[in-house]
Amino acid sequence: MKKIKELFNLKGKNALVTGSSRGIGKGIALGLAEYGANVMVHHYDSKRDHAEQTLNEINAFGVKSGLVFADLTDRHAADLIYNASRDIFKGIDILVLNASIQVRDPWDQITYNDFRRQTDINIGSTIWLIQKFVPYMKRNNWGRVITIGSVQQHRPHPEMLVYSATKMAMINMVRSLSPSFGKSGITINNIAPGVILTNRNKQALSNDQYAKHVLNKIPVGYFGESNDCAGLAILLSSDAGRYITGSDLLVDGGMNVSQ
Ligand SMILES: NC(=O)c1ccc[n+]([C@@H]2O[C@H](COP(=O)([O-])OP(=O)(O)OC[C@H]3O[C@@H](n4cnc5c(N)ncnc54)[C@H](OP(=O)(O)O)[C@@H]3O)[C@@H](O)[C@H]2O)c1
Repeated sequence: MKKIKELFNLKGKNALVTGSSRGIGKGIALGLAEYGANVMVHHYDSKRDHAEQTLNEINAFGVKSGLVFADLTDRHAADLIYNASRDIFKGIDILVLNASIQVRDPWDQITYNDFRRQTDINIGSTIWLIQKFVPYMKRNNWGRVITIGSVQQHRPHPEMLVYSATKMAMINMVRSLSPSFGKSGITINNIAPGVILTNRNKQALSNDQYAKHVLNKIPVGYFGESNDCAGLAILLSSDAGRYITGSDLLVDGGMNVSQ
C-alpha cells in the first residue's frame, strides 16, 4: 500500500485550469504544479504578462507548462483549447473548470446579453470542455474533473440571480455525470468557494462597512485566500481523493450555515 504522502503526488499528470492567470484559478494551478503536475494555463483578457508571470511561477516547480488564450463565451473555445493542449501534452488528466462571469444586477434589469454571457461561460463551456477532454481520461481509465461553484448555490445573492443559478447548475452536472464516469476511474466534484479575496471582490470589500457586514456572515471571522481552494483541488486531483466523487465541497469558512 502506498504511503499517504505518495498518494498526493501528481507527477506525470497533465492539468488544465481555466481562468488561471489570476485569482482562485492561479492558486489552483500553482498548487497542482507544486505537487508535480504539468499545467496548461488558460486566460482570456487579463494582461499577457500576468499569464506569463503565472507560467514562470509554474515552471519554477520544474514541471511542463503551456498557455492558451480563449474567450469561453465562444462556442468554439473548447476546440481551440483542446488543440492547443494537444500541441504540448498527450492529453489532459485533470480538468479544472474555474473561469466564470459574474454580473450584478437587480432581477428586473437583467439583460439578454448578460444572461447569455453568464450561461455561455458558466454552464456552456463547462459542458463543451468536458465533452472534449473526458474521452482521453476514459481511454486512460483515470481522470479528474473539478467544477468551481459558489456558496451562492446555498445563499444566493439577490442581485446575482443568473450567476447563482449557473453555480447551482454545477452540482447538478456533477451529480448527473459522476455515475457514468465512475467505472472509468474518473471522479467529478464541485468546489464551492465562499468569499475568497480576488480581483472579483476587491472593490466591493474595500468598503469597510460592507466588508464588516459580509464578515459577520462568516463563522471563522475572516475572508479566504486562493490557497484555501488549492488545498482541496490537490486532494481531489490526486489518488488520495479517488473515493470522492459526485460531491459538493464548500470552502467558505462556514458561511453556508450561518444565520
Ligand atoms: N472570489 C470569490 O469570492 C468567489 C466566490 C465564489 C465562487 N467563486 C468562483 O471561483 C472562480 C474564480 O473566481 P475568482 O474570484 O478567482 O475570479 P476572477 O478573479 O474574477 O477571475 C475570473 C477568471 O475567469 C476568466 N474569465 C472571465 N471571462 C472570461 C471569458 N469570457 N473567457 C474565458 N475566461 C474568462 C478570467 O480570465 P482573465 O483573467 O484572462 O480575464 C479570470 O481568470 C469563479 O468561477 C468564481 O465564480 C469565486
